[in-house]
Amino acid sequence: MSVQPSQLVAALDLGSTKVVALIAEVGGDARDPVAKILGFGLERSNGVRRGVVRDIEETTRAIAKAMKDAQRMAGVEVGTVYCGIAGEHVAGRSSHGMVSVTGDEIRTSDVARVNDMASNVSFGRDHELLHAIPQDYLIDQQAGISEPIGMTGSRLEAEVYLVTVLSSAMQNLRRCVERAGYHVGEFVLEPLAASLAVLTPDERELGCAIVELGGGSTNVAIFHNGKIRHTASLLCAGGHVTGDIVHGLQVTQHDAERLKERYGAAYEPLVAEQDVFDLPSTPAQGARSAHRRVLAHIMHMRLQEILEYALDEVTRAGYHQRLPAGVILTGGGAQAPGIVELARDVFALPARIGVPGERLRGLADSVESPVMAVPVGLVLYGARQVAGSGFGTGGRRSLGVDKYFAPVKRWLQDFF
Ligand SMILES: Nc1ncnc2c1ncn2[C@@H]1O[C@H](COP(=O)(O)OP(=O)(O)OP(=O)(O)O)[C@@H](O)[C@H]1O
Ligand SMILES: [Mg+2]
Repeated sequence: MSVQPSQLVAALDLGSTKVVALIAEVGGDARDPVAKILGFGLERSNGVRRGVVRDIEETTRAIAKAMKDAQRMAGVEVGTVYCGIAGEHVAGRSSHGMVSVTGDEIRTSDVARVNDMASNVSFGRDHELLHAIPQDYLIDQQAGISEPIGMTGSRLEAEVYLVTVLSSAMQNLRRCVERAGYHVGEFVLEPLAASLAVLTPDERELGCAIVELGGGSTNVAIFHNGKIRHTASLLCAGGHVTGDIVHGLQVTQHDAERLKERYGAAYEPLVAEQDVFDLPSTPAQGARSAHRRVLAHIMHMRLQEILEYALDEVTRAGYHQRLPAGVILTGGGAQAPGIVELARDVFALPARIGVPGERLRGLADSVESPVMAVPVGLVLYGARQVAGSGFGTGGRRSLGVDKYFAPVKRWLQDFF
């Protein structure tokens, strides 16, 4: 084993249709680390639904299998993983804090105090803080300051974006990972992870929305002026598209999934009218076929509805006119041919598919898919933490990791 455990990161994406494990080696410099992909594992599973564990045994099994495959491919063992989290139980909101500055200049401790004050709000009994992301500082009521340390002023204010999660949902995810034999170093909100894998700094700065089209949920994250501004999780997702195909074409769930991936399209006008494909049939039904246009029509209608919900979310958050870099599509649904055309129509904004590629080495081509945006983002998140601290997640016993994770969790200023 040539890789130092201190340079390893591992990620787990617990989706509604599959579990993905990814292992990478961190290289490059601390400010801009690169991740060399060493191994990955993908195991189909429906043990988690929209970020909530509904079958512990099944989820544990899938984690163990995906991790085992990733470790075998990488030729290394890991102990700690960065784990994605998402779903309707996640809530995001902005919060405000204010402190008076006593010294001549603003120090790190003042910034910590004001961040803590902004984060110190009641989340309700069942929820806990996942991320506190400083967005803007004000010194003596002057806004737009991103780095206040070293400046002079008597009153320091902070705008912080707080992401909270349902404690029990997070506990149950953690339990599955632990039962599979691993330790969760940190949970990271999935669309934020995806943003690390697919957004360019310019897109973040100008304003854009990530729309992650998953199997159980559709997650939206809005970025503007370099920072995350809003996130939401929508109920309508790929599972609904599959359900419509089941009813429309009278096929099983399994066949609907297969037909969707093989012959489907998200934009009806792209499909030639004469294209026909064979439909699976029972002995009594006899040979059957269907027009691809019919399948595309079913998918187009439902994906349009999903994207319209995402647009409503963007509009409600007040950002529709402020996203010149447009919409970046990730997740399984982003693989549907014509999805970019559909998104351009619905949003009346530029659109593209978000495929991980930047800052990756090694088996990078194996993660060149919008489905891998979340796991790659988790690895890149981990890579930044490791590059900044020297603590990797490798080795069965990852000493020092816990000690390291706690303090940084509060400050994600340079991340999102
Ligand atoms: N080529 C394709 N065209 C349309 N949909 C597709 C295609 N390939 C995959 N999908 C759909 O993408 C969905 C799975 O996406 P993904 O793997 O991102 O979800 P997940 O991470 O398991 O779930 P979630 O994040 O919602 O919990 C499924 O509904 C699947 O049918
Ligand atoms: Mg997912």
